[in-house]
Formats: sequence, structure tokens, C-alpha cells
Amino acid sequence: MKNADFLTGITTSGTPHLGNYVGAIRPAVESSKNPDLTSYYFLADYHSLIKNHDPEKRKTSTLEIAAAWIALGLDYNNCVFYRQSDIPEIPELTWILTCLTAKGLMNRAHAYKAAVQENEEQQRKDPDQGITMGLFSYPILMAADILMFNAAKVPVGKDQIQHLEMTRDIAAKFNHTYNTLFVLPEVVVDDTAAVLCGLDGRKMSKSYNNFIPLFDTEKRLRKMIMKIQTNSLGPDEPKDPDTCTLFSIYRAFATPEQTKDLARRYREGIAWGAMKQELFEYINDILKEPRQRYEALMANPKDIEDILKKGALRAREYSVPFLDKVRKSVGIQSLS
Ligand code: TRP
Repeated sequence: MKNADFLTGITTSGTPHLGNYVGAIRPAVESSKNPDLTSYYFLADYHSLIKNHDPEKRKTSTLEIAAAWIALGLDYNNCVFYRQSDIPEIPELTWILTCLTAKGLMNRAHAYKAAVQENEEQQRKDPDQGITMGLFSYPILMAADILMFNAAKVPVGKDQIQHLEMTRDIAAKFNHTYNTLFVLPEVVVDDTAAVLCGLDGRKMSKSYNNFIPLFDTEKRLRKMIMKIQTNSLGPDEPKDPDTCTLFSIYRAFATPEQTKDLARRYREGIAWGAMKQELFEYINDILKEPRQRYEALMANPKDIEDILKKGALRAREYSVPFLDKVRKSVGIQSLS
């Protein structure tokens, strides 16, 4: 197995939604098909331990996310698709890197700082109240995910840029202290990837609980779309497409011509009810076939398990010998 040209992880918390699809899944599915690239995609189930302490939820989410990626066309034979916890070399590397990482570097991590700030604002006695070591040192686990496969490029959302900088710092520290084994990964932030608005008009996100699941039943998808907030303009009044959630969702799926045409109809005054029905039909058409595949996969978790296990075997063709080099570099090896 070759090192990763591209690598990215998906934390297994929550149910995949439309925003995940246009922001992360769709571009990844595209590049998974490229025969000239070695892409690694993995389910970051150890990352999901940080916030969620419900085993059933974690299991369900892992299954749903894996099924969604496969149903939406991930080419799992061309790329390397695996579950983080199937690669024991990752936690092993995490510890080696932890022992090289300055605590001060972790003090600056956004997620940790935000948690401390929240405690201070609530005037709690201990600024670290409720903060686990998992949350604190999570950038090191992420660095290990990336460095384990010497990934050249890592496509992520903007909120993850700092973690990539930290990964480079940690890799450089290792290279300097021991041996030059690690490639310094580059961050790739796709500004062209669509960002969807959710039911309430804010960015669609599981943290705001304003998302539309990808693979609900047809009936529930329709109900969700009908619930999207709009303004109170009447049927014939001209409307502004650029501030409209319905429009933002349509645009993320449609061709530029279709989008232009719809913008014209907005300005001519389209009734909200009609627009919602149209959006539902449009999205539903796109999701119909993947939904059937998703349901079939969800009914046969063993098929998903087999795919992930095969992916792990391929990933470990790289991680096992590479970790061996890392261990030797730090002087953890056979004595004879
Ligand atoms: N932390 C990332 C997120 O929340 C997920 C992730 C875990 C990841 N390990 C990674 C992304 C390695 C890229 C590379 O989105």
C-alpha cells in the first residue's frame, strides 16, 4: 500500500445530513473514483468518544455514516475506506506523539479554549471543569490519524485548519528529535464546496439541531422541507433568492442553468408552498436510488463490516511496517 495522497476522517457522531453530503461526502465520493489518487477515508470512532458517552448511539452512527458513504457511491475498492479503531497502530502512534507534544501547544487548541471560556463565563470555580483529557489532547489523535499514513493532503472544513498546523508542528518535532519519517501534511480547504442553511436559516449542523437527514423516509423528507423557515412575503411578491434557505439547498444540487432559472422565478414571485414542493421533488429524485441502497445496507450490517474489514487490511499494509520504523526510531524494539 502507498501513503495517502488525500486523507480525511469523519467523526461518528450523529446522523448524516444534507449539509454533510454537499460539504464533505460528495467531493470525497468524486475523488474516491480517481484511479490516479490514493485516498484514505475513515470513520473516526475514537474521536467520537470525546463528546458522546452512549455506546448505542456510537454504534448506530458508525453504521449510518458508513452506509451513507457507500450508498452515495464511494468507490471503496479504489480508495482505502476503514474504521479508525480497526487500526491499533493509530493509538500507539498517538502516545509516541503525545510524548513529543508541548502542553502549551494544546492549551491553544480552539475546542479546549472554547470550553475554558464557557466555564469562565459561567463563573465556575474551576476553568477546566468538565473538560476531559480526551478533549484536551484530541489534536494529537488527529495528528496520528494523518501521520500514520504520511498523508500529503488533508481536505477539511475551516474549523480544522488549526489542527493541521498542530499536526505539522508535531511531525517536525518528531523528525527533528528522531528521524525524518513524516511528511508535513498540507491542509486543503475547499471554498467551492457548498455550505447549506438549515431549517432555521443558520448553517446546517448537528450542533444546531437544524438539519435535514439524508436518508429519512420520503414522507419525513417532505415534512422537513415544509418546515424550513421563510419570510411572510405573499405568493406574487418578488423574493430574494440569496437570503433564502430553500434556494441555498436547491443551488447546492442543481446545475448553474437551473439555478439561474429559479432565481428569475424568485424575482417574479414564486409562492413558498410551490417552491417547497418543488424542492422536495427535486431532492427526493436525487436521493431515491441512494436511499434504496442505504436501506439495503442498513438491513445487512455484515456487508458493511466486511467492506470496513477489507479496508483495514489494506490500511494496515501501510501502518504496520511504518509504525515498526517509528518504534525503531524511538528505540522501542527487540533487544536481540
Ligand atoms: N476532527 C475532524 C472533524 O471533526 C475529524 C477527523 C478526525 C479528521 N481525524 C481526522 C479529519 C484526520 C481529517 C484528518 O471534522
